[in-house]
Amino acid sequence: MSKVKIVTTNNQKGGIGKSTTLVHCAVYIGRQLAEAGVKILVIDLDPQGDSSAWMLPDFEDKMGRGELVCPSVLYNKKLQNPEDLIQASKFGSNIHVVPSGLFIMDGIKKTRIKAFENFKANVMKMIEYGDYDLVFFDTQAGHNRVWESCIYTSTHTLFPSTVDIDSFKGLARTLSLIEAMKKEFGDEIDITHLGTFFTQVSMNINELQALTKFKDNPENLKYGPFRQTEHRVAMKFAKNNQMSIWDKKTKASLDARKELAAVMNHYMVALFWPDDLKASCGLEFKKI
Ligand SMILES: Nc1ncnc2c1ncn2[C@@H]1O[C@H](COP(=O)(O)OP(=O)(O)OP(=O)(O)O)[C@@H](O)[C@H]1O
Ligand SMILES: [Mg+2]
Repeated sequence: MSKVKIVTTNNQKGGIGKSTTLVHCAVYIGRQLAEAGVKILVIDLDPQGDSSAWMLPDFEDKMGRGELVCPSVLYNKKLQNPEDLIQASKFGSNIHVVPSGLFIMDGIKKTRIKAFENFKANVMKMIEYGDYDLVFFDTQAGHNRVWESCIYTSTHTLFPSTVDIDSFKGLARTLSLIEAMKKEFGDEIDITHLGTFFTQVSMNINELQALTKFKDNPENLKYGPFRQTEHRVAMKFAKNNQMSIWDKKTKASLDARKELAAVMNHYMVALFWPDDLKASCGLEFKKI
């Protein structure tokens, strides 16, 4: 791949599948393209640490023992040792993670623009160090300087959304915040929007009607292209492509739910991915 892709999964609303989406995206693409030498980095900037916990064995233990460097150092002037931040994930030697820390916001003590510039330069330094092809930022919901620094640095955005009015409002707010940043920073921000996909869709009649109404409204074209699918279609696709990251050993209902979430995310993310990646995956991708 010629140029690194840096992706933020965006929605100002919380709990709609940002972390699930980007972890599955990272793992799925990383596994498909491991032999082609593609390297992937997930940078977890949410103090909640969901993606860190899913990707890093012993995340909580290591964090408790103070063995992890807080990514707040990315806001310092010059990152001396990028290798101190990067950890191997449990999903393959080409998929790495920068785990989160509790005090990420403490990094932003400088003026806003200085913080963004430092962050971008240090992320690029990590990319150069690890020779990464794809980078994903995980952020907490809501508008803050950490999220802004990710937008300042990203080349792509992907919007997950649930089918409810609050999540739709979250999309609108996200897009207007990105537009405002583009106005403020001009050419410094160069982002391509990959589209919106719907997570946690149960396909009952009310939900389908709400979804159709949202997608058919010309005012919402700006959030597209849109993707959705039925669970059984996603399950079949996932099964055929061995696309599950959750531990299936236990039969607890929580794990079963996660399994479904996992295949839905894999399937939809695969449909979204830019053509060059799809081609190198060698898989057949159908638009639905
Ligand atoms: N496509 C999906 N289908 C069904 N469930 C999903 C899907 N994607 C995510 N989920 C479930 O939704 C819940 C919230 O997902 P997740 O933690 O990824 O959201 P988030 O937007 O990152 O939340 P936060 O704002 O707290 O960071 C999780 O229980 C996850 O398993
Ligand atoms: Mg999250």
